[in-house]
Amino acid sequence: MPELQKPSEEFLNSLKELLGSTGWREGDDARYLEEPRGNFRGQAALIVLPANVEEVSEIVKRCSTARVGIIPYGGGTGLVSGQLSLENDHSIILSLERMNKIRNVDVKNDSMLVEAGCILADIQSAALDENRLFPLSLASEGSCRIGGNLATNAGGIQVIRYGNARDLCLGIEAVLPDGSIYHGLTPLRKDNTGYDLRHMMIGSEGTLGIITAASLKLFPNPQNTATAFCAIPSPSHAISLLKFCREEMGETISAFELMCAQGMKVLANHFPQEQDPFKGEYNWFTLIEIAGPSGIEEKFETMLMSAFENGFLLDSVIASSSAQSQALWRLRELMAEANKLEGAICSSDTSVPKSQVDQFIEETDAALLALHPGLRVNKYGHMGDGNLHFNVFPPEGIGKAQFLSTYPTIQKDVRLVIDKQTHQMNGSISGEHGIGRLKRNELQRYSDPAKLAVMKSIKAALDPHGIMNPGAVFSD
Ligand code: LAC
Ligand code: ZN
Repeated sequence: MPELQKPSEEFLNSLKELLGSTGWREGDDARYLEEPRGNFRGQAALIVLPANVEEVSEIVKRCSTARVGIIPYGGGTGLVSGQLSLENDHSIILSLERMNKIRNVDVKNDSMLVEAGCILADIQSAALDENRLFPLSLASEGSCRIGGNLATNAGGIQVIRYGNARDLCLGIEAVLPDGSIYHGLTPLRKDNTGYDLRHMMIGSEGTLGIITAASLKLFPNPQNTATAFCAIPSPSHAISLLKFCREEMGETISAFELMCAQGMKVLANHFPQEQDPFKGEYNWFTLIEIAGPSGIEEKFETMLMSAFENGFLLDSVIASSSAQSQALWRLRELMAEANKLEGAICSSDTSVPKSQVDQFIEETDAALLALHPGLRVNKYGHMGDGNLHFNVFPPEGIGKAQFLSTYPTIQKDVRLVIDKQTHQMNGSISGEHGIGRLKRNELQRYSDPAKLAVMKSIKAALDPHGIMNPGAVFSD
């Protein structure tokens, strides 16, 4: 990668002058330097908060000329440190937070135009105001921003029905590494005019440019929803149950999540107010949500009854109010926070074919226990997409710091066991969180060499000075 410069005081002052007093913060502003799991702290020379795409373009042009790195920043909720410079304080962070207007909701075209700094939950509610659904949904939706969701091709809980962020985006506006503005905010559903720059920028994690606005797809808002929390005998029963659900309920399944007893214990340790509906009697669970036309709740209940008769499930609780449904969803949504509080030494983002989730769980579990028989493993995630988050904890009663100092290589070993198993099953080491700075070496190790070579060529062609999110995605 080309040499970047530490920006001079003069350079930083010129940016401050350009943006005015509301357009920048000092580089040591803690709000921009922390990550959700609290494991790392980033550094920055300055935080800039442009108000419009022209300002973004001017900042990028100046940084390109001065060879200064830029880290695009959305809501700061990324889990792989794509938004944090861990290497040095030479880069500036460019936050899109002031570019947060919803420009329009086009009900007839089922699309909306939003600026990159819009908070995901605000986009969802603007769509709902027009009785439309923007289905991207994840635990951090109250603080993550759509620019970051697109830059990382975020997943979440409704991928099974509506796809990833990539599938929900019709077009983008972006500032490229030379400062030019790509005007691609099309509301078209079909546009076959050469390379699709939208899909190149989505998932590029800020290494090819800065997404400044997006045209998004909307869907009819299903009027009736139902949520069930089911106890199942094993992950292989989850596969059978999903197949059965699909046959009976078709495309009305909006979420199909897997959880386990270890996860429920961790949850009870840190959020005792949240009630396990089955009081600790079972080992495996699925949280299912369906949404569709009237009559769907009754159909869902009948389906669950036949699933019980067929032996796919042991027990189920169907929410009878939206408060109950929210309480069931909290069991799932608080899981990441509970893992952090419990002291996870590893959090995976594994994706395997959904038909092989059971085999992956069984073999990975056995390999982890062979490393250390006391390891506790919370296996949960987006079962319907084959995307699991294995969270591994020290043995009961042993703190994280103590365990890591007794077994200095354990963290690396655990990661390697999960990655190796994933690779053997032709899975992905990053189902939905991206590469950022934490998985650069794994990308290098497990990626197809031809793919990696093309990625590097694209990066060099678009960003010859290497100013866009330096240190992210690539390990050299
Ligand atoms: C989840 C986050 C960790 O699914 O992706 O809880
Ligand atoms: Zn997830």
